[in-house]
Amino acid sequence: MKVTIVGAGNVGASCAEYIAQKQIASKVVLLDIKEGFAEGKALDLFQTATTLGFNTSITGVTNDYAATSGSDVVVITSGVPRKPGMTREELIGINAGIVQKVSESILEFSPNAIIVVVSNPMDTMTYLALKATGLPKNRIIGMGGALDSSRFKTYLSLALDKPANDIQGMVIGGHGDTTMIPLTRLASYNGAPVAQYLDAKTLEKVAADTMVGGATLTKLLGTSAWYAPGASVAYLVDSILSDYKRMIPCSVYLEGEYGLNDICIGVPCIIGANGIESIVDVQLNESEQALMQASAEKVRAMNTALSDIL
Ligand code: 2OP
Repeated sequence: MKVTIVGAGNVGASCAEYIAQKQIASKVVLLDIKEGFAEGKALDLFQTATTLGFNTSITGVTNDYAATSGSDVVVITSGVPRKPGMTREELIGINAGIVQKVSESILEFSPNAIIVVVSNPMDTMTYLALKATGLPKNRIIGMGGALDSSRFKTYLSLALDKPANDIQGMVIGGHGDTTMIPLTRLASYNGAPVAQYLDAKTLEKVAADTMVGGATLTKLLGTSAWYAPGASVAYLVDSILSDYKRMIPCSVYLEGEYGLNDICIGVPCIIGANGIESIVDVQLNESEQALMQASAEKVRAMNTALSDIL
């Protein structure tokens, strides 16, 4: 199985690293526009193969889409990342043109690929990739919910002082500081509702920390995060290539699900060999449904910025 990662920056390189270390694919191609950059990252990563004992090959190319041909999955990380104080939404002008061009170039050489969108603002970029390529909706997946859910579970584990892997929970809605919806009501500590152990104020803080999870890291690091984003993409790609049919919250094109139409936004999805195999209908209560509507309105407002392109 072959995976191409477009953009060899921090997120792209971490994603390649996790895919290789876990041997999720036999081949990884890193592509970047900066001369020699992807080649360098790929070579450095590949030189860990004998030490770490993985069989995945990693190659890097400068803007050579022919080298990506026959990819089963293509991950788009290209575009500029956030600087401290910036919102993901402020990146739209620069990143829209890049994502459109990249998705078209990918399909020229990998017409059957499933595309995973990481570039921000992620829901709008997923919508753009879908509209620009005309691909069926199962083949365009926005990764935000996978990452946001991992941050949510981490903050819950810290608040509970329990192992992170004993926590279940998901974040739906947009991948933005004010559009994420951490579903605290449904989160559990190995099946027991977290509300049995955490008071309302703590749960509110966990949700608030989750929503600004990316911004917190951008402030600390001076640029946006990469380990958790890279790992979340690898987790998603693993479910596609091994057809695990894991339930992962992802940004997907909706046609009536959750009362929404003509928008890409985070909802729980079954991820398998066909990409988005189905959308899981989680029964939201009234306030959660209202949050979903409000989140969709903000994502929709962002999508209007695409009117010049689409
Ligand atoms: C984040 O939240 C990169 O959007 C990504 O860290």
